Amino acid sequence: MTEEDRRLTDGALTRREAILHGGTGLVLLCSFDQLAVKSRPNPKKTAASRRRELTGLFDPFKRDLPRPAVAEPVSTANGVDRYEITMQEGTAEILEGLETPIRGYDGMFPGPTIRARKGRPVVVKQTNELDHETIVHLHGGAQEEESDGALHRYWIQPGDDYTYTYWNQQDQATLWYHDHIHGRTGEHVFAGLAGFYILSDELDEKLGLPRGQYDVPLVIQDRAFNSDGSFRYVRSVEPGMHADTILVNGAIVPRMAVKRRIYRFRLLNGSNARCYQLQLGNGREMFQIASDGGLLPKPIKRTQIPLAPAQRAEVLIDFRKYAPGSKLILRNKLGDATTSAVMRFDVTKGGGREQARIPKKLRPAETIPSASKVRAFELTFEATPTPRWLINGKEYDENRVDADPKLGTTEYWRFINNSDHQHPMHLHACHFRVIEVNGVRPHPADRHWRDTVSVPPRGHVTIQPYFKDYAGQFVFHCHTLEHEDQSMMGSLVVRP
Ligand code: C2O
Ligand code: CU
Ligand code: CU
Repeated sequence: MTEEDRRLTDGALTRREAILHGGTGLVLLCSFDQLAVKSRPNPKKTAASRRRELTGLFDPFKRDLPRPAVAEPVSTANGVDRYEITMQEGTAEILEGLETPIRGYDGMFPGPTIRARKGRPVVVKQTNELDHETIVHLHGGAQEEESDGALHRYWIQPGDDYTYTYWNQQDQATLWYHDHIHGRTGEHVFAGLAGFYILSDELDEKLGLPRGQYDVPLVIQDRAFNSDGSFRYVRSVEPGMHADTILVNGAIVPRMAVKRRIYRFRLLNGSNARCYQLQLGNGREMFQIASDGGLLPKPIKRTQIPLAPAQRAEVLIDFRKYAPGSKLILRNKLGDATTSAVMRFDVTKGGGREQARIPKKLRPAETIPSASKVRAFELTFEATPTPRWLINGKEYDENRVDADPKLGTTEYWRFINNSDHQHPMHLHACHFRVIEVNGVRPHPADRHWRDTVSVPPRGHVTIQPYFKDYAGQFVFHCHTLEHEDQSMMGSLVVRP
């Protein structure tokens, strides 16, 4: 067993123990209403379920929301932004008084945000100073095979580097980059190899949406810890890795002081396997303006937003509606005692004279070619000889072609889930519209351009991908990372 493996599997620590082990400022307390009620010992519950609920009660809302660092280009000459990023070990201060070893882009957790603009290429030289192969995928990006970061032939050996080119010809969208080593993606992303890539364009900028400090990326991830403060990762193939502590931008259930004005939040579910159903307070309104593939045709008022792994949702929240001193918890309706609160917005004085309003329209509707082919993919679990997830009864094989659409066409892809777990199915090299989920047309904010769709347990989903950007070899897979690693991935070859 290597030191790393030991760290990943040994000494599981309850958060109560973490407190005993050296957390000076860690207070065992769970103070927010509903949750406090939930976690009060219930004599009818088994000792085990009570213990489970008690494994992690850090005081929430203690830390101010951090903002991920923004990467600085090394050069901006000739209309190209060049970056140099090193994948390396580092530490993060997540638990007070303890250091958490991470593996991250420039040693940071979360990784530095890359800000890009449509039409301006970004070139990133990624150097691997870790002790294992890596590969960097730009999730949601339209890029050529060589820069997509998925296939084995592009893996970066320890000590080597690789240069990715992102043409940024697509419309504005909140993208993210993360490790994609087949078989170890779950472990690598959990260790910290993920960051935002925010692509803006003229349309986006002209809408008068909140900018600068009022445009806030929020990556939501769950993590578990060992007694020394290190992350505890369990390769849990069937349900996928679910951990007991929610982090936003690397901080445990943080708080954010907000002014009485409109904010734009870019929500990313960067968790390995956990799904969220986000709700503001007891169902206050949020205006969703974008999903995975960028702006929606118009803002859509919602009180709940589902977010499966890898999905993004951008929302506008108008805090002018709330009196100074109001505290609004962003909740996860699917959470349990320790995973129900995501973060809290604390409304402060000031900012109330803002004149901005929620725009009526965001972007014009597009027409796309009608579907030229129908494909079906059955999703199943096999417990023996080793637990694994299959697509049409097969494991991933890079040398086999599972779908070969033609460039410039759209198709119908139908995912049929013959298992008891949901699968956030993700396609590289395209965006898609969601046509139906269990025979029903999805919510208007969930059917626009996406790159990841949740296929419900025992359910089915039809999507319409549009292969409009590049020919080449790509992949599609479940974005529950333990499913993807083991081995729920197919090979997608876009023919010229
Ligand atoms: Cu975000 Cu192929 O992954
Ligand atoms: Cu992707
Ligand atoms: Cu899955």
